[in-house]
Amino acid sequence: MKTSRNSTRDGLKPDAYTAMQQLVIEHPQIKRTIARIDEYKEASKGSREPNCMLILGRPGVGKTTIKDLYTAKYAIEKTDTGTKVPVLSATIPVPATMMTLVTALLTKIGDPLAVKGTLHQKTLRLYRLLKECETEMILLDEFHHFIDCDSEKILNSVSNWLKNLISETKVPVTLIGLPKSLRVLFANSQLERRFSDILHISPIKYPSANNKDFKHLLKIIQEHAILKFDMDLTSEDMLPRMYAATNGYLSPLMLLVRMVTFSCKKQGKKTIELKDMAEFHHRKISAMSKGNPNLRTSRYEKNPFSLDWTPADAVKPSSKSQKPAAKRKPPMSKAEASREIREIYS
Ligand SMILES: Nc1ncnc2c1ncn2[C@@H]1O[C@H](COP(=O)(O)OP(=O)(O)OP(=O)(O)O)[C@@H](O)[C@H]1O
Ligand SMILES: [Mg+2]
Repeated sequence: MKTSRNSTRDGLKPDAYTAMQQLVIEHPQIKRTIARIDEYKEASKGSREPNCMLILGRPGVGKTTIKDLYTAKYAIEKTDTGTKVPVLSATIPVPATMMTLVTALLTKIGDPLAVKGTLHQKTLRLYRLLKECETEMILLDEFHHFIDCDSEKILNSVSNWLKNLISETKVPVTLIGLPKSLRVLFANSQLERRFSDILHISPIKYPSANNKDFKHLLKIIQEHAILKFDMDLTSEDMLPRMYAATNGYLSPLMLLVRMVTFSCKKQGKKTIELKDMAEFHHRKISAMSKGNPNLRTSRYEKNPFSLDWTPADAVKPSSKSQKPAAKRKPPMSKAEASREIREIYS
């Protein structure tokens, strides 16, 4: 696993705490996803019809982090003849209209007049700029914004606009969004047929003899910690506790580590102890329960950082997540995808 740190906006060397905030762990799933986007980028070169893919994942699983890492890999380059933007990446705005989307893309590609002109003028300008900037891949995050969040209706005009963008410019698009984004593709068969692959980003699997990804992740976190942990996060005792508290999601894991570090530093502590982690977990769960008194699932019943906690107190991982990791997930067939969408909405 590799790690990377973004530099601060002003280019100064980040201090230890900032570095910890910006730590990005390139775990195997990230590497596989980046390689797959690259495959699509390469396969589309010179093609009359580019190959596009959809990346789906639940909140906090690390989708935007993947988008940012991929974009950083292909940095914007100033040349004697102009600017190269090999990968254009943007977040789909709310509300997602043809106008807001084209403006977001023009802004990201560096058009100083991004807000000027009619929809038609802006669209043609974007087509021209994509060619001039030699763009080979477009990444669009928050694809579920193509579903109106108030009415839950699919925004068909913007999805048709996207289909035309792909057809006219021949630049492949990678869409990234929540699982419900599938609905948008299924509602527009012309857009759907341009997407030959659906990739699911899942939480890191429950640690087992066959899968050490979670353990490696904790090892990296421990190595980069700016305050020493009083315990080994990868030990037989701590590993299940850490998993029970985060369910393999990067977002709560990094939040836990960062907030506990911040709080202990503020108190002038030299090490992070189990009780500091228990306190953070307790505060988080009580804050969440205030907003939702029904939040009494077994996952939250016992603090995984309390001294008397044992793995038997955790929600058992599903048998599916205990299976050894598949070598490579084949692309999802349309029949499978239809089944999946029925399950999501049943
Ligand atoms: N590989 C990683 N290394 C370190 N931290 C990560 C990594 N992936 C995710 N995180 C942490 O988890 C948080 C959520 O990640 P991210 O924004 O990528 O999730 P997401 O799937 O896009 O969530 P959402 O669906 O809510 O937009 C980030 O702020 C970051 O702190
Ligand atoms: Mg995101």
